[in-house]
Amino acid sequence: MSDPWKFTLSEPDLIQSDSDAVEACIRSQWLSMGPKTQEFEAQFAEMTGAKHAIAVSNGTAALHLALAAVGVGQSSDDEVIQPTINFVAAANMTCALGADPVFADCLSLVDPTINPQEIRTKITKNTKAVVVMHFGGYACRMDEIRAICDEHNLPLIEDACHAPCQTYSGKLDGYLGTIGEIGCFSFFSNKNMTTAEGGMVTTDDDEHAEKIRKMRSHGMTTLSWDRHFGRPSTYDVIMHGFNYRIDDLRSSLGLSQLSRLLENNEKRRMRAEDYADAVSDLATNEIQFIFGDRPKDGTGHVAGVIVPTAKRDIARLKLAELRIQTSLHYPPIHLFSAFSEFSSVELPIAEEFSKSMITLPMHANLPAGAPAEIVQSLQSVLKAA
Ligand SMILES: Cc1ncc(COP(=O)(O)O)c(C=O)c1O
Repeated sequence: MSDPWKFTLSEPDLIQSDSDAVEACIRSQWLSMGPKTQEFEAQFAEMTGAKHAIAVSNGTAALHLALAAVGVGQSSDDEVIQPTINFVAAANMTCALGADPVFADCLSLVDPTINPQEIRTKITKNTKAVVVMHFGGYACRMDEIRAICDEHNLPLIEDACHAPCQTYSGKLDGYLGTIGEIGCFSFFSNKNMTTAEGGMVTTDDDEHAEKIRKMRSHGMTTLSWDRHFGRPSTYDVIMHGFNYRIDDLRSSLGLSQLSRLLENNEKRRMRAEDYADAVSDLATNEIQFIFGDRPKDGTGHVAGVIVPTAKRDIARLKLAELRIQTSLHYPPIHLFSAFSEFSSVELPIAEEFSKSMITLPMHANLPAGAPAEIVQSLQSVLKAA
C-alpha cells in the first residue's frame, strides 16, 4: 500500500518489541482478559498515581462505565455538563444512559478546553455529573473546576483520552485523570499509546472501582481467569453490566507501548514546541497555534492551528494537494444531527473555533524539521487563497 501523504496526520509508534510482546501472549495460550491485563492495570496505576486502574475495551466504554458508576441515568431528568468541543463519545454515552448532555463553551480559540464559568452557570438541580476533556493533552482549569464540583457536590469525570501520564501542576497536582473522581483513557490507534482498540478507567474510590470492574464483565462475580485457575467454579450476577473487557493480546501490546509512553510524549512536546516556534516566527498573524503559549505543558496529542475562517477549507484542500494530511478536532457536538434538540444553545467560541481550526500532522516519529515545513506550506496556501 503506497502512502498518499508526505506528512500523515497521525501514526502509531510500533516496533519489534511490540510484536514480540503480542507474540509472547499468543505463545502463552491465554488470550482473553487475564494476567497480562492485571500487569497492564498495575503499571498504569503506578505511572499515574491512581489507586485503581481498570482496563476496558475502548475509551467510550470507559466513559460509559464512569458515568454509570456515578449514577448518571438513575433519574429521567439527569443532566451532565460537558464540553461541546470534544469527540462525541461522552455525549453519546450520556444519552445512552437516558440523561441529557448540557453543552458548555470553551475558553478561547487558542485554549479550547471547557470554560469553568460555563460549568458554574449551567448547574441545575438535575445536574448529575461534570465531564471535562483535556484537549490535545493540555489540562483544563482543574483548580477552578474541582472547586466548583466540590461546592455543588458533583462528581467530576475527566475524559483524559488525549492525556495519558500528563502531570498537572496548579494548586492541585497529580496526573490528569486522577483529579476528578474518575479518569477515562483511550488507546485507539491514533492515541499517544495504542492497543489498537482499548481504554482504561482510573479512580481512587474503592466503591467506584468495584462497580466498574463488575460492570465491565456483565455484573458477574468471577471471570473466566478466576474459574480457569480453580478459584470459584461458579458465579452470581449482582448488577446489570456489559462486556467491556479488554484482552491479554491488547494488554501485552499496552504494556510494551506504556514502556515508551513518557519518551513518546516528550517527542510530541518537542514537535509541539517546533510548531509554536514556526508560527511565532512568521511575519503574518493569520495563523495561531493552539496552546502556543504552553506547547510543552501537554502531551502534544493534537497540533491545531487557527486560521481565518473564510480561508480554512481551501487551505485544507491545498495542503492535501501538497500531500499534507489534516483534520478537524472537533465539530461542536451540539450541531450534529443526532443532537439537534440541543442545537439552540449559544456556544459562540466553540462555533467559531470549529470553523477556523485545522489539525496538522503530529505523532512521535514526525521528523524535527516537519513542523516548520508544514507551517511554511500553510502560510503559502493562505497567502494564495
Ligand atoms: C477525547 C476523546 N474521548 C473519547 C474517545 C473515545 O475513545 P475510543 O475511540 O477508544 O472509544 C476518544 C477517541 O477517539 C477521544 O479522542
